[in-house]
Amino acid sequence: MITDRFNRVHNYLRISLTDNCNLRCFYCMPEEEYEFTPASRLMQLHEIEALAKIFVDLGVNKIRLTGGEPLVRKDAGEIILSLSKLPVKLTLTTNGSRLHEFVDTLGQAGVHSLNISLDTLQPEKFQLITRRDQFQKVYDNIQLLLKRNFHVKVNMVVMKGLNNNEINDFIEWTRHEPVHIRFIEFMPFTGNRWTSNKVFTMQEMLEVIGKKYEVVRLQDEKHDTAKGYQVPGHRGTFAIISTMSANFCGECNRMRLTADGKMKNCLFSGYETDLLSALRKGEDVIPLIHQNIYNKAKELGGQFTTDFEHLHAEDIHNRSMITIGG
Ligand code: 5AD
Ligand code: SF4
Repeated sequence: MITDRFNRVHNYLRISLTDNCNLRCFYCMPEEEYEFTPASRLMQLHEIEALAKIFVDLGVNKIRLTGGEPLVRKDAGEIILSLSKLPVKLTLTTNGSRLHEFVDTLGQAGVHSLNISLDTLQPEKFQLITRRDQFQKVYDNIQLLLKRNFHVKVNMVVMKGLNNNEINDFIEWTRHEPVHIRFIEFMPFTGNRWTSNKVFTMQEMLEVIGKKYEVVRLQDEKHDTAKGYQVPGHRGTFAIISTMSANFCGECNRMRLTADGKMKNCLFSGYETDLLSALRKGEDVIPLIHQNIYNKAKELGGQFTTDFEHLHAEDIHNRSMITIGG
């Protein structure tokens, strides 16, 4: 078991397959000219397999693949099929633009549930946020997955003044389709133009939704980061991830592996452990994993010493989101 100083058992690993992406969301990728990590520095298939197996032997029972965009990696299909042989619940977070090429592989790998990022239902705004014209592709792929009976969660990062006016459009979407919307409070990462006044809080979201709909609170699972709700009678549900206004670190069971093989014990940790180099040198990585988790801060990587209204993004020592992987 991998346990930290606060008795939190860590059984959920998120593996970033690449820092490459075919979209350019401004809140995730700092610059249009961002240089992707060269392939030789990325974990190779056999290295991902080896590290994943070590984590599974230490008690991991859930693995999520992330990016950048995991499905732009050439051997993404192979990786998915290989990891699906481990005794874990395998899932992924994707921007959705390539899902049509992978839907059969995902079925074959027993992936039933996945998270798709979509911050707007307006094609022009999609172009503004992602700097790419892919709205229809993503939307069609969501429909395709619903048709094939996948459990589809749609991640919407809510940013004040940009897309907070679409919250109820997303709720309306849940009326006739079994989509599960997750409204995420905007978080600061290196280079992502975060300011506290762009955070649209859970409280504000619930007020907007409450003006138009009756909602009921759903029962959450122990490690859920999202607080679930439903409009009675709607086929889908919605949930809110309130990292900024009300964190859920007390129940955290998550660890991350970046595409270049560094272990992070928190999305906001300034601290990383280079597991890939150790593996390549033939060293034992198990003590490194335990040590990394032993150093996990109580909440938010130990970096948010004030409430978010007083936070300055430049004081947070981290990577940009594209190099962490969601
Ligand atoms: N704040 C909140 N969520 C973010 N994501 C990426 N950057 C941020 C941010 N700054 C979300 C993406 C994706 C997931 C990997 O993380 O929308 O759904
Ligand atoms: Fe866990 Fe860090 Fe997220 Fe808190 S901020 S829930 S500690 S990963």
